Order: sequence, then structure tokens, then C-alpha cells
Amino acid sequence: MSEGLEDVVAARTVLSDVDGVRGRLIIRGASLDALVEKSRYEDVLTLLLEDMIALPTALPEALGEARVRAFQQVESAADHLFILPPVDALRALLATLPDGDDADTALRLIAGTAVFTAAILRRRQGLSPIPPDPALGHAADILRMMTGITPEPDAAAALDRYLVTVADHGLNASTFTARVIASTGAGLLSATLGALGALKGPLHGGAPGPVLDMLDAIGTPSNAAGWIEDALGRGERLMGFGHRIYRVRDPRADSLKGALRLLRERKDGDGGRLPLAEAVEQAALAALRRYKPNRTLETNVEFYTAILLETLGFPREAFTCVFACGRIGGWIAHAREQSLTGRLIRPQSEYVGPRVDEAA
Ligand code: ACO
Repeated sequence: MSEGLEDVVAARTVLSDVDGVRGRLIIRGASLDALVEKSRYEDVLTLLLEDMIALPTALPEALGEARVRAFQQVESAADHLFILPPVDALRALLATLPDGDDADTALRLIAGTAVFTAAILRRRQGLSPIPPDPALGHAADILRMMTGITPEPDAAAALDRYLVTVADHGLNASTFTARVIASTGAGLLSATLGALGALKGPLHGGAPGPVLDMLDAIGTPSNAAGWIEDALGRGERLMGFGHRIYRVRDPRADSLKGALRLLRERKDGDGGRLPLAEAVEQAALAALRRYKPNRTLETNVEFYTAILLETLGFPREAFTCVFACGRIGGWIAHAREQSLTGRLIRPQSEYVGPRVDEAA
């Protein structure tokens, strides 16, 4: 038995390869480093979903139209849904969509995740949701639906890079959940709802909000080392560090740090939160080496996700929803791959409870 299924191979996939020793992420034969330089999120969706589902040839246009259709769902949604915490509101809104296993369901889910996230943020600020602009790219339209303003090209490019960076990542907890559900023959909506539930937890996609809480508590670079010593001394985990697979730095952290640097240079030139984040990162890595000498704990994707999404104007309570806007592509591709090539996933458990007293 392997607690947490560590090192257990539970699926064959052509979708992504997480090389935890060399710190490399490959998506269908392309390295993440190459993808973030040349591909939009829509291109990565095509790459992931090719051969998995009969996608329309003009995917950006079809996705734009799907966003328009998803907005109708927002207009008819009950008010009380928007009072829920954003990730729960997203789950509730997605649950109003029909289930299915076809390209239309896939587009509805990808579009709906983006449109609902923006609408939830607007409603929570007491503002009216803004209808999508189908002519914009997916990332630019998310920002526009959130703010009402067509974003600067570099802000749209930064969010696009984020969506590409998190689109797929092997058999992480939420993707595994999606595959388990798909293996029963349930549809893509069911797989997505389960995956979103798994993503929400702080050990997975719920970490970036607490990363910002940590930066707020530290306040200035000079406080970093002392604060981190105290936290580790109390036995706490540092959010944004450590990973089940990576034994070196998570390549996605550098992809996002690059996006952030470009954005910050244009915006105000003072680096924003970046100097504090870099001081905290250095202090955390040094302290983790001392506290956990037998475990390599490096920066993971969530650390720079937090700072990038904050810089783009997303409130921290919505970070998990924005993560879902990107990872939905991976969930759907894996769910389809499981349906096409896999079997029912049904592992065994070891019973350690009381035995029936046979003598009695
Ligand atoms: N801070 C302090 N100690 C840590 C951290 C951390 N961030 N991560 C792991 N450790 C320690 C554990 O306490 C444990 O120590 P012990 O052996 O003395 O008990 C040891 O390292 C191994 O930890 P596990 O929980 O067994 O490692 P696992 O592979 O299960 O955990 C995880 C991976 C959940 C990501 C973990 O590193 C963690 O909790 N990180 C903080 C939360 C976080 O950043 N989550 C986002 C992950 S990225 C993503 O999902 C998109």
C-alpha cells in the first residue's frame, strides 16, 4: 500500500509529463517553456483536446460564442448563488449546465468557468456582470468581463501565460478526480464538478490566497527570516512551497515570475510586491533546507500565482476560480482520455477495523 498513492502510476496518458527530477513539464510533446513563448490558451486547448473530442476547427471563435451562451446562464441564475464563497458559487453555477461527453459540453464548461468567475466577482462587488466580447481572446475577455475595460495587451498576455502555464499537469489530485469520475461513464460536467471540489483545498489549488496572507503578515523583507522561523517552529506549512513530484524548482513558478516581471516593469517600475516575494522566497528556501533536510522543498506554482493574479486585479478569494479557468482544459482532456482508453478506476482498501469475533 502507498499512502497518498505516492509513486503509484494510475494512468497512461499522452497529455502531459511532469519530470520532477529535471524540473520539466511537457504538454503533448512541447515543453512548457516553449509553449508560453508561442502559444495562446486557445492553442493549448487545441493541443490538449485534439483526438480526444471533435472540436470545431475555429476554436477561438467557437469559444467566444460559447462565452456568449454561458452569459445567458448568469442572467437567469438565482441571486443567492452569488453570496457563496466564489469557488462554491462557481461550482453551483457550473452545476446548472447539462452534462454530456461531446465537444459542445466541453466548450460550455470552458466558457462557463471563465464567464461565471468574472460574473461572481462583479456581483460580489455589487456590480452588474458584463457580457463577453466573443471577438476577444479568452484571457483578454476574462479581464474585460471582470473590470469592464478592455485590458492592456501585456495584462491580457500575462493572464494568457498563466492559463497556459496551469492548463495541465499530469495526475494531480483534481485531474485524478476527473479521471475517476470519467471512468464510471459519467459525463464531463460531473468530472469537472468533482475536480473543482478537489482543487479547492489548500494543499492543491487553494494555496495562493494563503500565500498573500503570509506576505501581508510578513510585511517587509527584513521580517521574512524571523517570521518564517517562527511559523516552521510552530510546525506550520509554508504555502507555495513543496510538491509531491518536483524535487527541484517547479518550472511553472519561473514562467509566472517572468510574466510578473514584464507586467511590473511597465506598470510602476518599483517592482510592486516582487521584492518582498523574492525576500520571502529566499528566506523560506533557506529555512526549509534546515528544517526538512531529508525532503527537497522548493517553490511551487502557487507562490508566484498569488502575486501575478493580485497584480492583475483579481481578489485573493477568486484565485482558485482563475486556476480552474486554466486547468479546465486539462480536466476535460484527461476525462476524455480516460473514457476513450481507460477502465473503471476501482482500487482496493486495506481493512484495519475490528474483525467479527468468529468464536462468539
Ligand atoms: N512547508 C513546511 N513543511 C512542508 C511543506 C511546506 N510547504 N511541504 C511539505 N512539508 C514537509 C511536511 O511537513 C513533511 O515533513 P515530515 O516528514 O517531517 O512530517 C514533509 O515535508 C513531507 O510532506 P508531505 O505532506 O508528505 O508531502 P506531500 O508530497 O504529501 O505534499 C504538498 C505536497 C501538499 C504540496 C506540500 O508540500 C504542502 O502542503 N505544501 C504547501 C501547500 C501548497 O503550496 N500547495 C500547492 C501545491 S501546488 C498545486 O497543487 C497546484
